[in-house]
Amino acid sequence: MKVLVTGGLGFIGSHTVVELQNKGFDVVIIDDCSNSDENVLDGIQAITGKKPLYEKLDLKEKHKVEDFFQRHQDVEGVIHFAASKAVGESVEKPLLYYENNIGTLVYILKELCNKNKASFIFSSSCTVYGQADKMPITEDAPVKVAESPYGNTKQMGEEIISDTCKVTPSLNAIALRYFNPMGAHPSGEIGELPKGVPQNLVPFITQTGIGLRQELSVFGDDYPTPDGTCIRDYIYVVDLAKAHVVALERLLNGKNEANYEVFNVGTGTGSSVLEAIQSFEKVSGRKLNYKIVDRRPGDITSAYADTTKANKVLGWKAEYTLEEAMNYAWIWEQKIRD
Ligand code: WQD
Repeated sequence: MKVLVTGGLGFIGSHTVVELQNKGFDVVIIDDCSNSDENVLDGIQAITGKKPLYEKLDLKEKHKVEDFFQRHQDVEGVIHFAASKAVGESVEKPLLYYENNIGTLVYILKELCNKNKASFIFSSSCTVYGQADKMPITEDAPVKVAESPYGNTKQMGEEIISDTCKVTPSLNAIALRYFNPMGAHPSGEIGELPKGVPQNLVPFITQTGIGLRQELSVFGDDYPTPDGTCIRDYIYVVDLAKAHVVALERLLNGKNEANYEVFNVGTGTGSSVLEAIQSFEKVSGRKLNYKIVDRRPGDITSAYADTTKANKVLGWKAEYTLEEAMNYAWIWEQKIRD
């Protein structure tokens, strides 16, 4: 069974390729390497013993997408990670985000609609909820007006897929709304490789811990939370990767109850920024250098998942804790700085 993973050299994509290969799938990766490196292929092979097929291809080039699907007619499933994902950058360069995140999605869906049957897994995000009114967040929480073009592309992406599935019975799709992915593979062969100054908390913590960054700025401790810092649902990237395989198998085996479904993918536990720092200090045995600064514009106070639907309907549950995931993030940081 051949599966296309777009963005398969990226952080979540590469971990998902490993889990797909572990389950016996043949994987072909498309990646334009705009935010990843081809040597991730060696890391994947070091873990699974199998080097996935790989094509460097810009999905914004429609004819190249058409040509790819002509040459790989045996692709039965697609897991679509390829997208730009920096919230701040999306505010400065909205058209780059709409072209790269929406245009490419349309080209891929058009190809899948030409097949007798196709299974499609979409990388969505809890960002679609904005600041949800109630914690934990269920899948039927209202989608709020996006706070950034990035978040808007996830909302629009879900609507495009839903509308397409309504008129294409042969297309079965699942949108996975990730909470906050973190960590690295236990093997130390693959992990997060943020380019430049990390936007996300966990890589900034580990880079500060190893001395690459002077100190971590904690964006505000005056939120209405127990310790004043924002709360998030930090999910271990291997748990997240496994959710993609379970979702794909659900579609391939015809277990889906509708041809478009949505699942939250989180641990169900909320952790504050200070708790994330404490978990780092515990696993590393190091004191983290940080200071409290002003809030970051656009940040929401709290977001963590109600995982009932993922656990009971999808049949998936996160197995790792924040501390275990932070430990793997720290091991990875030390390895890549060696
Ligand atoms: C987490 C918490 C910050 C950095 C974003 C995207 C989301 C998803 C995950 C793609 C917040 C605080 C952070 C720092 C800090 N990405 N923080 N100092 O903003 O929850 O989600 O990444 O799908 O779509 O929106 O993640 O890691 O940036 O921030 O205090 O240097 O850490 O204020 O409370 P976020 P994050």
